[in-house]
Amino acid sequence: MKDTAQTPRGVRAPLPHDSAPLHVTGAARYVDDIPVPEGTLHLAFALSPVASGVLRGVDVSGAGDAALVWTARDAKGVDTSPSLHDEPLLADGEVRFMGQPLALVAAASHHEARRQARQVRPEIDERPPILSVDDALTAGDRHFDGGPRVWTDGDPDAALAAAPHVVEGLLEVGGQEHFYLEGQAALALPQEDGSVVVHSSSQHPTEIQHKVADALGLPMALVRVEVRRMGGGFGGKESQGNALAVACALVAARTGRAAKMRYDRDDDFVVTGKRHGFRIGYRAGFSPEGDILGMDVTHWVSCGWSQDLSLPVADRAMLHAANCYDVPAVRLTSHRLRTDIQSATAFRGFGGPQGMLGMERIMDHAAHALGLDPVEIRRRNYFPDHDAAAPHAEAEGIEVPDGTDTDMAGRGAVGHVEGRAPHIPPEGPATHYGMPVRDFALGGITERLLETSDYRARAAAIADWNAAQPVLRRGIAFSPVQFGISFTLTHLNQAGALVHVYQDGSIAVNHGGTEMGQGLFRKVAQVVASRFGVDASHVRPTATDTGKVPNTSATAASSGSDLNSMAAMNAADAIRGRIAGFLGALHDVPADLVRFEGGLVAAGPHAIPWAEAVRLAYVNRVSLSASGFYKTPDIVWDREKGRGRPFFYFAYGAAVTEVVLDRLTGESRILRADILHDAGASLNPALDRGQIEGGFVQGAGWLTTEELVWDAKGRLSTHAPSTYKIPAASDAPPAFDVRFWDRPNPERTVYRSKAVGEPPLMLGISAWLALGRAAAAFGDRWPDLSAPATAEALYWAAKRAAG
Ligand code: MTE
Ligand code: MOS
Repeated sequence: MKDTAQTPRGVRAPLPHDSAPLHVTGAARYVDDIPVPEGTLHLAFALSPVASGVLRGVDVSGAGDAALVWTARDAKGVDTSPSLHDEPLLADGEVRFMGQPLALVAAASHHEARRQARQVRPEIDERPPILSVDDALTAGDRHFDGGPRVWTDGDPDAALAAAPHVVEGLLEVGGQEHFYLEGQAALALPQEDGSVVVHSSSQHPTEIQHKVADALGLPMALVRVEVRRMGGGFGGKESQGNALAVACALVAARTGRAAKMRYDRDDDFVVTGKRHGFRIGYRAGFSPEGDILGMDVTHWVSCGWSQDLSLPVADRAMLHAANCYDVPAVRLTSHRLRTDIQSATAFRGFGGPQGMLGMERIMDHAAHALGLDPVEIRRRNYFPDHDAAAPHAEAEGIEVPDGTDTDMAGRGAVGHVEGRAPHIPPEGPATHYGMPVRDFALGGITERLLETSDYRARAAAIADWNAAQPVLRRGIAFSPVQFGISFTLTHLNQAGALVHVYQDGSIAVNHGGTEMGQGLFRKVAQVVASRFGVDASHVRPTATDTGKVPNTSATAASSGSDLNSMAAMNAADAIRGRIAGFLGALHDVPADLVRFEGGLVAAGPHAIPWAEAVRLAYVNRVSLSASGFYKTPDIVWDREKGRGRPFFYFAYGAAVTEVVLDRLTGESRILRADILHDAGASLNPALDRGQIEGGFVQGAGWLTTEELVWDAKGRLSTHAPSTYKIPAASDAPPAFDVRFWDRPNPERTVYRSKAVGEPPLMLGISAWLALGRAAAAFGDRWPDLSAPATAEALYWAAKRAAG
């Protein structure tokens, strides 16, 4: 590995979020804060009071100005789906969930629009709703024709038949509301010539542009979408903003007035999709020593009323269904069921967390059944660590000219080696979908985390403590994470960027990624600053804008910084190459010996400040603007067969969490969490630490207090913070030790960093496992805990354990 030292203010610097002062002073501008033109209309949806039925008609006579109310009749064929054409903007002919938009009302204020929307009277012939997995199976209601998707690797039936021990069970896994602090919002500003500008709180500006263009019958070039920032997205703004943006654009086009819409928190809960709820069934065979021999796992996925992103979510659950374990024989069966509830959507981890939870459950169940140590049974089934595994690029001496290259000479726009065939060794460890595992790190991570968390001594002390406690019991658990990085739809793994250097030396960077609090804009700015050898404060990130960088993928799959930083680096390097060429020629120094470092540009002995170099280049008519592009190399994937290399690499991490449980009330608390996480060579350890801490807490919230409850009519009864409990700052572990596994990514990512947005969420699984162990400590039976482990669930689990 080459030396990766950089200027202190470029990559690797633990700089705060670029908007931190704006966030904390309230000056950061969100969609709802943008000043609107006079006459702006405010919109609200009238929502279905029924989960399923035939829609006979919608009486809008009570809802104010008839010219400002729209139903399906006025919006025929207008669709908001990100995948199929299966989400009419306004319910047409039937309703499919309680909360589905039936009519669109425009008024002079947000509150007036909401008041009028409540006067809309639908006429619906109710049907019994399909709410649960069982309902959907009985009705045979599936999203994708042809039944479940099945992937098989090896011979699981033979393995299970021959296995000395088989564990078998069912696990219910609840969904999760995103609870982004800023609700969904959009603003459409009509322009001359029928074109429109849309501000949207969206992770996917190009999709907003596409859906708005579709709805208005415009070419995409007449729609410009801008996203400065979101107050959190977490996957809930990949597709769920489409309806608001399309509604605003439609009203703007029809009335010629600006139109704005935001959901109230209650409406946001009731209208938008959440994390998919799963039922997971498993049979897994083990040797007496704890070697896993084979498994047969079934996912029943509650997808909600429309398809949305359920196909790739359910696929990703299958891809993570063995987590980090080398299972010799696997069958996975995934049922994608249609239910008459909100359409489940992307949520941090995108199905990965549910798949992984199933596997961790199998490991705990087997440890309990075989009387084995829960850490040891996991470790013995790991893939071999990277050092022990098949050789990879570096060991083979393959040149890797990418962002780890500290040579500041102008190398032009070369970012990575193109056209290399996928490197798949014929032998060596591979996942159940045939992807070689060449960068495994969990052996080392586990070893170190067990030490730093003092796991063994604490586990022994907890056992002693529990023996003397009638009411309270503690539990401690370890869980590992292996998360695949890349979009599984291969063509999405591309990004564009635009870098401008102005004549005063200041730099603006634009790219297709969106900022939702994760710190992407700062990271990309740090990369660009490093290429020019200047301080990151010189680089101004600008709002994501489909008019500047087109055809972008959603900022999702944790790949925002991997993709957009590379594209921005390629753009910056093009400009750097031109400046180097010009200054080199001036001083008779080869361009590749011109250096950009410490705020200076040096052509041999001639070192001048960056701003001076830029001024000289400008007056000598050197182009100081460039676009950049990047696509992830080496990925191939066949989703039907479930074979290939869908991911560029894996991100790893592990956690040890300790909890205490009260058997009389079911109340529980996290006492301590220790995390060792792999962010590769971190681009910004301060931001990455925030992602790790936040991800863990959000994951623990999903599996403990966050419970979604639908009543028998299909009404979401947990639709506000009063009934739906997300973790507060006070619910973070009082002792929280977060460390980095500081090893550069063996793959050629930007400065050898790793994606960090989603993987830490799955570290929260350790909190759920610890609660299971605390419940188990009340007796010797298997407590068979489901998720979320609410107080009620824990109360009964402790009773079951006691027998
Ligand atoms: N962090 C914050 N603060 N807010 C968010 O909305 N979304 C998560 C994660 N971390 C999110 C977040 C999700 S779902 C993803 S996919 C990644 O950030 C997206 O950003 P990245 O690709 O730049 O990491
Ligand atoms: Mo994240 S669920 O991929 O937006």
